[in-house]
Amino acid sequence: MEHELLKIKNDASSLIIAAEDEQELNQIKLDFLGKSGKLTQLVKEIKNVPEERRPEIGRLANEILASVEDLVETKLNELRGRKRAAVKKQILDITLPGKKPQAGHLHLITQAIEEISEIFEHIGFTRVRYPEVEWDWYAFGSLNFSENHPARDDWETFFIDAEPDPRMGPMILTPHTSSGQVREMERRKPPIKMLNIAKCYRRQSDISHTQMFHQFEGMAIGDGVSIADLKGTFDFFVHSYFGKNRKSRLRPFHFQFTEPSVEIDVSCGVCNGRGCRLCKGGWLELGGGGMIHPEVLRNGGVDPKKYSGFAFGWGVERVLMMKEGLELDDLRILYSNRLDFLEQF
Ligand code: PHE
Repeated sequence: MEHELLKIKNDASSLIIAAEDEQELNQIKLDFLGKSGKLTQLVKEIKNVPEERRPEIGRLANEILASVEDLVETKLNELRGRKRAAVKKQILDITLPGKKPQAGHLHLITQAIEEISEIFEHIGFTRVRYPEVEWDWYAFGSLNFSENHPARDDWETFFIDAEPDPRMGPMILTPHTSSGQVREMERRKPPIKMLNIAKCYRRQSDISHTQMFHQFEGMAIGDGVSIADLKGTFDFFVHSYFGKNRKSRLRPFHFQFTEPSVEIDVSCGVCNGRGCRLCKGGWLELGGGGMIHPEVLRNGGVDPKKYSGFAFGWGVERVLMMKEGLELDDLRILYSNRLDFLEQF
């Protein structure tokens, strides 16, 4: 009897442990613990065991019953847990591609600024940035603008509603990056090679002008800096930014703060200099430059007898349009936050 009980316990245990699912486990439970189950039947026969052994066998049978029931319960929990995990796995299929958060990118003007900075970095120009809210002195006065120059007029420049400084004059929003020239000379001694990229402001808004735009201003001051260095610097930029096959040319011009002054043109990338509707006879105007006026050097505390320098200032928006061959119907779209436009770049 004892032997049979232990054998049934072993059989039941190994079957329970191997059960694959709840249905199978229920069947095993029924086979052993059900009304006519093997274990139930055997327990019923305890009454035939000789009396002196009956209590002992009875205890053993109870222990076996309890342990088989326990094992069934444990297995049931395990199977249910496995099922829950399987369902969870279905919901959380880690092999599915995730939902990507919408990632933005740098604005096309910021991209252009970074590209321009890198080009000039290669030839030793250090990037700087000077105030957008600026004194008249740095933007005009120190750059030889006369007291009644039209650029100082309300209609060209934004004036800040603040008390003018007796020495610096009124406060304005800087209309060009040339305001960084004298500031840089005050900050550093020659040799100087600066690249000032900043926001500029002018009171003009139409299809080809935005009231806020960007300029990049190069300035080099040192011993014997000549106009050949200026031309070499232009060429390096034109080749790096627009491409090897583009040419630059200088045209005489006039600025208050450079002498001689030039305007720089770059050969048109669309017609390759032959002339098309995008350019003027094969050339596109890039912007101004020249040799820094001795008076401007003096205003920055630099001795014009010892040092000379060149400067140039071009529009970031302009060079970008020229590079990409972009023909925007309205330049103001750049700052309109129109995603369908911006996402293209
Ligand atoms: N500041 C001038 C402009 O806004 C450009 C320029 C810069 C010209 C430096 C000469 C030297 O157009």
